[in-house]
Amino acid sequence: MLRTAPGAETAALVAPAGRLEGELVLPGDKSISHRALMLALLANGESRISGAGDGADVRSTAGIVKALGARLERQPAGEAGNVDYTVTATGGAGLRRPAGVLDCGNSGTSLRLFAGIVAGHPIEAILDGDASLRARPMARVIAPLSAMGARVEGARDGRPPLVVAGRRRLQPIDWHTPVPSAQVKSAILLAGLSATGRTTVRESVATRDHTERMLQARGVPVRTRPAVDGWAIVEVDGPATVSTVDERVPGDPSAAAFWLVAAAIHPDADLLVRRVGVNPTRRAAVDFLSLMGAAIDERPIIGAALAGVGEPVADLRVRSSGLRAIQLMPADTARAIDEVPILCLAATQARGRTVIRGAGELRHKESDRIAGIVAGLSTLGARISVDGDDISIDGPTTLRGAVVDSLNDHRLVLTFAIAGLVAEGATTVLGADSVDISYPTFFADLERIRS
Ligand code: S3P
Repeated sequence: MLRTAPGAETAALVAPAGRLEGELVLPGDKSISHRALMLALLANGESRISGAGDGADVRSTAGIVKALGARLERQPAGEAGNVDYTVTATGGAGLRRPAGVLDCGNSGTSLRLFAGIVAGHPIEAILDGDASLRARPMARVIAPLSAMGARVEGARDGRPPLVVAGRRRLQPIDWHTPVPSAQVKSAILLAGLSATGRTTVRESVATRDHTERMLQARGVPVRTRPAVDGWAIVEVDGPATVSTVDERVPGDPSAAAFWLVAAAIHPDADLLVRRVGVNPTRRAAVDFLSLMGAAIDERPIIGAALAGVGEPVADLRVRSSGLRAIQLMPADTARAIDEVPILCLAATQARGRTVIRGAGELRHKESDRIAGIVAGLSTLGARISVDGDDISIDGPTTLRGAVVDSLNDHRLVLTFAIAGLVAEGATTVLGADSVDISYPTFFADLERIRS
């Protein structure tokens, strides 16, 4: 599937599929894998993590956990290219000043959450990453962590690299996040573990709550309160100690969304996606696709052994479906922020005009995803346009295979590869090796379930 011409970027050639059929086990959830490793670093003793995703982003976090003083053992989990980790650490007080720069690679989650962790400890660290990460805005974490008393400096306009000089006792803050962001919320909560008193984060849209659930499971007093004046509230009381926990990581719902759309828009498809995390703050794509008419059959898996620590899990069966357009308001879009590219593809096959409002944050992801998705899907023949922060797609349209540029963004590679399964003729996706960021086994899975 992947071809590399000497001196050229890696491209994937995807031919239309006659049928999609079979079972899929997905990479361990990326957000939970990051947090499980980070919280293991902050705990005193041995933590076991099973089924962690092994994409490049999670590997960046594992490298940093090691650089900050934990001992890591990893072995294949035997499924989906996932890995099991045993992490031995001596608790927050044991955090070591790193010898070199902490390389976050392409991972915004690593950079922002480690900024919060380092802020609460008496060490200094430089957090950096690749060209894409260096272009991403960090003022949103620099401001609250500075208000808590850490010294945090970015380069031009607060972009990475960030120099973070932490302190043992931070000031608690009460912070409204201007842009809904689980990374910013998590950075503040992780710093809040070292604050003396109550740290509060208020969000206009409740973002993914893995940090809250995972801290609670590790004995940290974190509370979420119902929205007041439209603001969802999370509080943590510090200083707090993190206990060790054994965590089983569910399948990544953001990876599942690609298969849900693949099967829904393909005329002859029947896929079973196993053990997918269906946390209410992550399942928006499942719900929106169902509203669009996707035939998704959800079978919850009951029992802690399969559910990880406090995360609901389900098998999802999805079949060929006739889709209709949907209207998403900005709060809906925020809840499906990582799934917007693949929902745009679904909309090209749905009857009517889909409007995805308030998608501006997509300009600040691993690439400018609005530019990338509009250029790529237009090249394939979609009727897609942008007005300010709103994306409109008219469907259904027949897609025709072409050469499309992923901008080296994993979620765009995945979207265009799925488009290639239903387009007429072959689709070539440039920069295809960036699937390694979140879904290293994607092309192998694709070959297995297609005919
Ligand atoms: C993530 C939060 C989201 C999401 C990213 C993972 C997390 O980012 O887009 O893929 O694990 O907390 P923002 O917090 O920037 O919205």
